[in-house]
Amino acid sequence: MTLDINRPDLVVGVVGTGAMGRGIAQVTAQGGMKALMYDAAEGGAARAKAGILETLKGLASRGRLADADVARTDANLAVADSLAALKGCNIVIEAVFEDLVVKRKLFAEIEAAVSPETIIASNTSSIRIASIAHSLKHRDRVCGMHYFNPVPLMKLVEVIRAADTAPWVVDAMVALGKRQTRVPVVVGDTPGFLVNLGGTAIGTEGLRIFQEGRATPSQVDAVMRDTCGFRMGPFELMDLTGIDVNFPARKIIYEGFFHDRRMTPSPYHESLFAAGKLGRKTGGGWYSYDSKGAKIDPGADHLPSVVPAASVVVMDSHNEKLVQLVLASGAKALAVDDGRSPILVAPVGKDCTTTVVERNLDPRRTIAVDLTGDTARRITIMTAPGGDDLVRDAASAILARTGAKVTLIKDSPGFIAQRMCAMIANLGCEMAMIGIASAADVDTAMTLGLNYPRGPLALADWLGVKNCHEILVQLQAITGDDRYRPSQWLRRRAQLGISATTVE
Ligand SMILES: NC(=O)c1ccc[n+]([C@@H]2O[C@H](COP(=O)([O-])OP(=O)(O)OC[C@H]3O[C@@H](n4cnc5c(N)ncnc54)[C@H](O)[C@@H]3O)[C@@H](O)[C@H]2O)c1
Repeated sequence: MTLDINRPDLVVGVVGTGAMGRGIAQVTAQGGMKALMYDAAEGGAARAKAGILETLKGLASRGRLADADVARTDANLAVADSLAALKGCNIVIEAVFEDLVVKRKLFAEIEAAVSPETIIASNTSSIRIASIAHSLKHRDRVCGMHYFNPVPLMKLVEVIRAADTAPWVVDAMVALGKRQTRVPVVVGDTPGFLVNLGGTAIGTEGLRIFQEGRATPSQVDAVMRDTCGFRMGPFELMDLTGIDVNFPARKIIYEGFFHDRRMTPSPYHESLFAAGKLGRKTGGGWYSYDSKGAKIDPGADHLPSVVPAASVVVMDSHNEKLVQLVLASGAKALAVDDGRSPILVAPVGKDCTTTVVERNLDPRRTIAVDLTGDTARRITIMTAPGGDDLVRDAASAILARTGAKVTLIKDSPGFIAQRMCAMIANLGCEMAMIGIASAADVDTAMTLGLNYPRGPLALADWLGVKNCHEILVQLQAITGDDRYRPSQWLRRRAQLGISATTVE
């Protein structure tokens, strides 16, 4: 069987015309297809159609859309007054409340109304498609079509292939997504699908760093923005989406993967949820917000100290980027310890304590520097317990002379940026390995769905695949936590010295 998405008489039914259904109907109609909208609420679909046209007319009045486009979209949008009216649809996309019982009942009603060849898709964000399709007669024509909010602006759509979904259905829905001017990626029917699963890495690792008392939310966010190019750090993102949305989502994914420690939620996250401190919407979450809703950021910078910058530092090992930083500051770099100057080291995956002990350095004078990413904007430093604050500040002042902001955190294997990026990359590698999506689609989906500066596999390449693997090996060895075990996909590519995006 096939369905030609370009046939001129194609009709796409949209059931549930709230925030998502309305957007799905809009991109369908703008793609030149007929969209037949139905909502259980009296007048709901008509209101949704009026809302779409109002938005488009607003764009046209500002010259951002031609009047002819508005008229064409108007002509493509129709309102159905019952489910039975969807009878002739080639495809029906459901976007009602996120409730399995409601969706199962609705799918049975849709199946009774349409022909056996009609594709029926759900826009669910967390329910397994196979479970919605469970009691239908023709489960092979059921799949997921997971759009992102707001639909007209978010280009990604995940086409979810459930156990019984026929290949022709996947092909047709990929073609539909393209006609709707989306970027479709084909994804397995696993908890969180692709983007919501991939997105757990940044959140859970940020929470882990905070829980261990290594850094504040503000420090984690600033490092991710400034050194790694993320538009937002994990804590500001949690506050924006709402703790009532992201804490339950984390739990569902953790349960769904049978307590895989890579996805472990944090009790600190739950504490905010329980307290009703849900983020921006309640005026407080990880951050506080003023009466105008602006974030009150306690700051991530190690403030300049009265201690003058050291004129001489000891460079424990030859690291070109570190040497350049020191030279740019105007300080002199010594290869041999003079017994008094700050000692700068740049560990990969290790904490300052381990580095000091392994290399037999003076723990009071050793400062670990993270060279990950854009060190022109921000540099993270840490010392071992008992480190001398004056020596540390003399070294910090040297780094600040380069124009970078300095973030001082507590001793941690992998600092912030190494830990966070390696964990994002590792989960992406795992998703590619277990076939949740192709390696290319993992990167496409994470950049489009979450606005990441690069996808997880490209992030492994950015860190250096061997480096990325080493960070995880060290994190696992030092913490003893299985959470940091490297994905076998990553290990193989690190051993071979090839890109993480290399397919098998
Ligand atoms: N909002 C998001 O950010 C987002 C993102 C991706 C996916 N989703 C998923 O999309 C779906 C819809 O979410 P939403 O935010 O648009 O919800 P919404 O509450 O804005 O809209 C739901 C609509 O469904 C209608 N409805 C409820 N039961 C119905 C039934 N039996 N028949 C017909 N219409 C019915 C309601 O009247 C309402 O208009 C959910 O499954 C949600 O998980 C939401």
